[in-house]
Amino acid sequence: MTDNFDYDVLVIGGGPGGYVAAIRAAQLGLKTACVESRETLGGTCLNVGCIPSKAMLHASELYHEAHSGALEKFGINLSGTKLDLKQMLAEKTKAVDELTGGIAFLFKKNKIDWLKGLGSFESANSVKVGDKTYTAKNIIIATGSSVTPLPGVEIDNSKHVVVDSTGALELPKVPNHMVVIGGGVIGLELGSVWMRLGAKVTVVEYLDQILPGMDGDIRKDSARIFKKQGFDIKTGTKVTGVTVKGKKASVTIEPAKGGDAETIEADAVLVAIGRRPNIDGLALEKSGVETNDRGQIEVGHDFQTAVKGVYAIGDVTPGPMLAHKAMDEGVAVAEFVAGQQGIVNHDLIPGVVYTHPEIASIGKTEEQVKESGVEYKVGKFPFLANSRAKTNRDTEGYVKIIADAKTDRVLGAHIISSLAGTLVAQITQAMEFGATSEDIAYTCHAHPTHSEAIKEAAIAVLGKPIHT
Ligand code: FAD
Ligand code: NAI
Repeated sequence: MTDNFDYDVLVIGGGPGGYVAAIRAAQLGLKTACVESRETLGGTCLNVGCIPSKAMLHASELYHEAHSGALEKFGINLSGTKLDLKQMLAEKTKAVDELTGGIAFLFKKNKIDWLKGLGSFESANSVKVGDKTYTAKNIIIATGSSVTPLPGVEIDNSKHVVVDSTGALELPKVPNHMVVIGGGVIGLELGSVWMRLGAKVTVVEYLDQILPGMDGDIRKDSARIFKKQGFDIKTGTKVTGVTVKGKKASVTIEPAKGGDAETIEADAVLVAIGRRPNIDGLALEKSGVETNDRGQIEVGHDFQTAVKGVYAIGDVTPGPMLAHKAMDEGVAVAEFVAGQQGIVNHDLIPGVVYTHPEIASIGKTEEQVKESGVEYKVGKFPFLANSRAKTNRDTEGYVKIIADAKTDRVLGAHIISSLAGTLVAQITQAMEFGATSEDIAYTCHAHPTHSEAIKEAAIAVLGKPIHT
């Protein structure tokens, strides 16, 4: 396909969106390059996001189970368990190195050129990297996102006091008190890590509830669970300033709707109020591509921008900022570029919060269904009545299924459970096939497994659960 271009496809950004697009394009026989400015491939997700955060969540959970005495009821006494934070951080780094190295291997295997450096447009068909300019018939923007700053609050990860998510994955010592600004996914996941390792954690959330965008029941019940675990959650509260003196920070807060200010002393402050698209330095204007008022690049169903031959995927485009969304878009955009039909069902992108218990969601929330005016039924089943969860002493949470009252088609499902992230895949697939709650209810589920709670919740939509 190359005509007179250096490449058929040039991808800017080597995160889950960009590296997957590059691999798929190469698999389809297109001459492909990927520009990435980091030292390693894998983007936010592999370097400073999904992977290191999950490594720390897993390790901190193991430590907490061993240290808190939670295992004694199973006859396992681990008194005297000690934390070696340096080793925990080293093991996390090892996992990151293995996985980012794996992408470099896949690039070599698929003969993809990794152009190391910052890419900026010269025109809609050319990108400058360092002092060289490369031309390409198709350019895919997959530059991702970075932390939204909070005006008046200066983040300095190197000092380990006021940090963003990247800094919170590298604290050299467990803080006595961590204040998390933002009760969203990052705040709750990384807050969980440091709370399990011994910190007192206060979450300051501007809205009336944590986890915006999730189902109302889930937001309310997860807040109750997190408070029971020891989180101090201050909703309807805003941070008006943070001052740092040496290794300590004073965080000034006040009610979001106005009222008396209060100061909280902390040894670590995590700013986690969202992420914004990476467009700085891209010289987008030279390509002719424009952004919307949120700085995102809008695309059509084929991920093409308003400029022919320039595409965009992942966090830099509208929609949930999730690695699996970016990866699926990476496959689809490469298939479109190769003249095939790429497919991503943006109505069915699962979301998982990897706390303990996990929180998972697919499809519509009850609030969205209500607003759409569709008549609906809800079936809920608590893990307290699931035999495997009961046996494992792991009964926190439930499965909630929302179905159309007339057609019985499943519209959404929301799960709180230690295994929610894995369980949600089953409902996602069922929904892709247009399943009704009856289809799920009459599917045989292995016993004893947590998945039986999904079957029972589906039975509950029909009004006749067996075990409650
Ligand atoms: P990115 O991963 O951000 O990759 C973009 C890449 O482009 C970067 O490496 C950047 O260096 C590079 N780049 C940018 N501009 C240029 C340029 N001009 N030239 C060259 N290179 C450039 N999502 C999940 O689904 N599950 C999770 O568990 C999860 N956990 C997370 C935990 C944390 C702490 C964070 C911060 C995020 C997490 N996410 C998670 C979100 C996930 O990381 C992102 O949605 C995902 O990485 C987006 O992929 P992307 O390819 O669009 O962008
Ligand atoms: P978020 O959007 O999930 O949460 C930010 C929270 O901060 C919101 O609750 C918001 O109301 C609150 N907030 C905003 N301004 C505030 C202020 N001034 N004071 C107090 N609270 C304020 O964003 P977060 O947690 O930073 O994560 C960014 C993105 O990364 C998310 O979109 C998420 O999709 C992705 N991510 C995904 C993970 C996963 O899939 N498990 C894990 C971590 C991140």
